[in-house]
Amino acid sequence: MTDSCTYAIFGATGNLSRIKLMPALYHLDQAGKLAEDTRVLAMGRRDWSQEHLVEQVRSWVQGAVGEHFDEAVFSRFARRLDYFRGDLREPETYQRLGDLLRDNDAFPDNIAWYMAINPGDFGVAVRYLHEDGLLEEAHGWRRVVIEKPFGYDLESAQALQRGIGKYLREEQIYRIDHYLGKGTVQNVLVFRFANTVMEPLWNRNYIDHIQITHSETLGLGSRAGFYEGVGAMRDMIQSHLLQLLTLVTMEPPPSMEAESLRDEKVKVLKSVRPIAPNAVHAHAFRAQYAAGQIDGEKVKGYLEEDGVAPDSVTETYAALKVYIDNWRWRGVPIYLRTGKRMAKKQSLVSICFRHPPQQFFRDTHIERLRQNWVLLGIQPDCLKVEMTVKEPGLEMRTRQTSLDASLRQRDEVLTDAYEELLLDVIDGDRSLFLRYDEVEYAWRVVDPVLRVWATERDYIQTYPAGTWGPEESRRLFEKEEQQWRHSLAPLED
Ligand code: BG6
Repeated sequence: MTDSCTYAIFGATGNLSRIKLMPALYHLDQAGKLAEDTRVLAMGRRDWSQEHLVEQVRSWVQGAVGEHFDEAVFSRFARRLDYFRGDLREPETYQRLGDLLRDNDAFPDNIAWYMAINPGDFGVAVRYLHEDGLLEEAHGWRRVVIEKPFGYDLESAQALQRGIGKYLREEQIYRIDHYLGKGTVQNVLVFRFANTVMEPLWNRNYIDHIQITHSETLGLGSRAGFYEGVGAMRDMIQSHLLQLLTLVTMEPPPSMEAESLRDEKVKVLKSVRPIAPNAVHAHAFRAQYAAGQIDGEKVKGYLEEDGVAPDSVTETYAALKVYIDNWRWRGVPIYLRTGKRMAKKQSLVSICFRHPPQQFFRDTHIERLRQNWVLLGIQPDCLKVEMTVKEPGLEMRTRQTSLDASLRQRDEVLTDAYEELLLDVIDGDRSLFLRYDEVEYAWRVVDPVLRVWATERDYIQTYPAGTWGPEESRRLFEKEEQQWRHSLAPLED
């Protein structure tokens, strides 16, 4: 059984809590992973009663688990919930918080402070917690979970780190990147390091290029306050996609132990070739969704969404080409791409192998051989290796087939990422959380692009909602024959 603890969530009435945190805590309760007296202290500015909180959380959990909702489990979970009203920018909030938690047997001594708040408020919240003695570990541990983005750019990340570093030891800081909690993301490591077949091929001698794509059909929703100042490059590429890139390309670490893994990931980020200011347009592309259709329904453009400035150039689509200048990867382009309101919800790592020599087939009908692809589906989960085989018949013709290896049996369910990460915080396991240098080097990769984009405030390309983004993003490709791999379906000629 895990330690009993008080999970104190700042921003508990917000989007993250609704979509991910509360459903994940409910799942943990259902799985019997929460200690008997573990409590969830939901904190927010809104004037909610205890009953209202419970009703809200009920509807969030029901929305997330649908027909699997279990009333008995929820009643148990609801008894763990408490609402605390307060403004995190007001010092008096922390005094009241201290009064509530100190010497109160209802709340376990161990406290996880979860910052599901605007990134600009992380530093302030940590400082006030410190000033009211709420980070002292005299009785029980104190851990602080910090959502992304950690900082707004390299400089602000450094400032934030200096700020919180005054009050917290590194072991108390849990910088979350929820992609690392996904089973399919962890499978990238298993696929690479538990099988011998791929390892000899996993390098510049055999791989032509790599694509890492995250696309979603959702739009901005009610997140303008957060997203307007962030955009797709910070929201997805600086964090989730660069993390995926490290897992796909790093050297095998000596063990699964937290520091070994993080050491190898940092080496990859340090090896990414810096993008010179005059090369930004050859390496990065941004765009914003305009009105369009998703699943046959008309949807608004970004500029018409609530809370968005009429002249906003915040990107909802971003693509980036990077090169890792080390022995394994030198010269192999890696394309990272993400977008909201795209044609499909999907996260996919696509590895494209080099062309085989044509020589053997010179006197046949085959004009051009296809490249092999290995597709690692993050969501939906899948593993696919595309190969060329001979078509039945008298002539020498080929076609594509694939080895499909499902990651799970039909009756197995994948849990969402947050369950595992929320539990790791209680267990004090930091291997799936980011060390500060990982965050800093990830900022170093995207910072040159953000700097140039920050000066280009007059115009941004658009794409109709429900599509794969502007064709012009092709300009990132190194070779004419390279093309975006949108889905698991084989590429057209
Ligand atoms: C979050 C971003 O970190 O990840 C969101 O802030 C994005 O904008 C989400 O939608 C995607 O996560 P997932 O798990 O749904 O792929």
